Amino acid sequence: MTAMIDVQGLRKEFGHFTAVNDISFSVEPGQVLGFLGPNGAGKSTTMKMLTGFLTPTAGRIHICGIDVAAKPVQAKKKIGYLPEGAPLYAEMTPASFLSFIGDVRGLKGADKKKRIEQIVEQVQLQDVWKQPIETLSKGYKRRVGLAQAILHDPEVLVLDEPTDGLDPNQKFEVRQLVQQMASDKAIIISTHILEEVDAVCNQAMIIARGRILANGTPKELLALSQFSGAYSILITSSLQSTVSASLQALPEVASIEAAPEGDELFRTTAFPAPDVKLHEVVSGLVHAHGWPALEIRRESGRLDDVFRQLTTEVGQGGAHA
Ligand SMILES: Nc1ncnc2c1ncn2[C@@H]1O[C@H](COP(=O)(O)OP(=O)(O)OP(=O)(O)O)[C@@H](O)[C@H]1O
Ligand SMILES: [Mg+2]
Repeated sequence: MTAMIDVQGLRKEFGHFTAVNDISFSVEPGQVLGFLGPNGAGKSTTMKMLTGFLTPTAGRIHICGIDVAAKPVQAKKKIGYLPEGAPLYAEMTPASFLSFIGDVRGLKGADKKKRIEQIVEQVQLQDVWKQPIETLSKGYKRRVGLAQAILHDPEVLVLDEPTDGLDPNQKFEVRQLVQQMASDKAIIISTHILEEVDAVCNQAMIIARGRILANGTPKELLALSQFSGAYSILITSSLQSTVSASLQALPEVASIEAAPEGDELFRTTAFPAPDVKLHEVVSGLVHAHGWPALEIRRESGRLDDVFRQLTTEVGQGGAHA
């Protein structure tokens, strides 16, 4: 088995409520898998089962070939986990906390000291090293949480919303850190930020109501967007109705959308009919009329569009218990 994380038929019930409903997937070394989904989708519950903090109602989890249910301690040695909200011991300092985590992880002597020094450098904790954790800013607390997750250099990393609540610079730093570590690890991160998926993930899963609705590369998910394959023309407002009518009249165009951009411009987006490529028809139309288009753009698909489309379909369909 090459997958570092292998999940088959995972299910979690809380009383009569099914939070995770028959989820299967695997993650290979070098893969960064993004968990996307609305609030209550089951992302954190899945992560808690992966890391051995919750017992599944049904299903099997293997971490580096180790069955989490049968050998939880061995499996946990392979995993670094940043739980949702990054809970920490408030009265400890980063120094005492990481020393404690080092002990828990079985690091000793010079090895432990060296590893802690590396981590402090990596997540930039020098400035607050001796300050009680409860007095740290949110960004620094998150860094301490990340530091404890990666201290033992685990093969598998599970990060539950690692950038939640951070400022843009800190988000960037955390994403960089994840990318740096990605080459030889299997990493799962959950996020509500769709651009984060593009930035750090090479695989993404959309989950809602405990089920996987889509699983693929970010590019494959983008291809599910209604904007994938669409073309838009940016043109002065006075020509908008002519452009829209001409586009709409083309047999290759299924539908159009027009929206103002600034005070004087309009963007008209043409969506292709099935199995049609719009590029030549749209540019041909613009040239034939001699329209002074400021831009003809191929839309690459939008993740938020796919997300909304998939997750609201489930919402309308009701719960699948
Ligand atoms: N211990 C529990 N007892 C009962 N219900 C629970 C428990 N833990 C989670 N749930 C429910 O399971 C569902 C999934 O929760 P989970 O925390 O996994 O969602 P999530 O996808 O992480 O959401 P968010 O994006 O808000 O973090 C929710 O409806 C939640 O209320
Ligand atoms: Mg969650």
